[in-house]
Amino acid sequence: MMNDEEFLDRVLTMEVGRCTEAAAVAASTMIGRGDKEGADEAAVSALREAFNKLEIDGTVVIGEGERDEAPMLYIGEKVGRGNGPKVDIALDPLEGTTLTAKAMSNALAVVAMAQGGTLLHAPDVYMDKIACGPGYPDGIINLDAPVEENIEALAKEKGTPTSEITLCILDRERHQPLIDGARKMGSRVFLIPDGDVAGVFHTAEKSTGIDLYVGQGGAPEGVLAAAALRCVGGQMQGRLFFRTDEERARAERIGIKDLDKKYTLMELASGDVIFAATGVTNGTMLDGVYWEPGYVNTHTVVMRSKTNTIRYIRAKSKR
Ligand code: FBP
Repeated sequence: MMNDEEFLDRVLTMEVGRCTEAAAVAASTMIGRGDKEGADEAAVSALREAFNKLEIDGTVVIGEGERDEAPMLYIGEKVGRGNGPKVDIALDPLEGTTLTAKAMSNALAVVAMAQGGTLLHAPDVYMDKIACGPGYPDGIINLDAPVEENIEALAKEKGTPTSEITLCILDRERHQPLIDGARKMGSRVFLIPDGDVAGVFHTAEKSTGIDLYVGQGGAPEGVLAAAALRCVGGQMQGRLFFRTDEERARAERIGIKDLDKKYTLMELASGDVIFAATGVTNGTMLDGVYWEPGYVNTHTVVMRSKTNTIRYIRAKSKR
């Protein structure tokens, strides 16, 4: 028979999916309106409302910013009804604010939940990241090695030429050396305008053809991506990247001791993780929110690291 903890876990998985659905639906009302702050606010307030219906004693560890800069879902905010399991929550109510404002593909509402103390409390700074999907020997990728070496290692293991390796990279000027390195190896580069949670996740989805994710993006998104990879398998490494002393101080304030640490996947997200994402705009990972008279349609993925279950949910709700 299922014990209470297992029952709660299974119920919570679906509930977390309901939360991302609520955030995505709210954000969808702002698609194409050129207002990325407004889109984010809509998603944040819907997500907070949904969380506060859950029977959890939740603490936001990756949120909308520090307490003094974010009125809702700030780092350290308590969410839930307070009478359930103690959980850490990492969230990005709208991953792809610009994508939403410009009605471009791949905007998502994203949440990860795990036992208290098991998700890295990452400050809102950049993170250098590298990730690949499951099925490779441990340690095949190395954040500190040149991109060419990582490509070569994957190609060797796959038994393909390096021209058959595809990388996903955020389309930013700072990534030109990585792009040049990949081109030198004859590899394909899938450039994304935003949204590296999906970018990392794509390495674990065979249908995308993406073998390797590299580049610098948000540290909070790094922890969310790690949570997703924990559910489907794969490898990832990340290191915080600070542009200013203020950013370093921000990390120290939330308890990071070794500012140069290279984190492994298990150090980014070590617990039993529940991950959920709902598409806001149509994308390569999920379909976006679709409205019809009287109804709203959503597409959500919910996953658990404990069982490696990946569940896609299409919901049609009355409005
Ligand atoms: P927002 O949802 O805050 O717009 O973030 C989107 C995103 O592309 C992330 O996926 C990524 O980690 C980060 O921004 C990259 O930051 P930057 O745009 O500064 O390169």
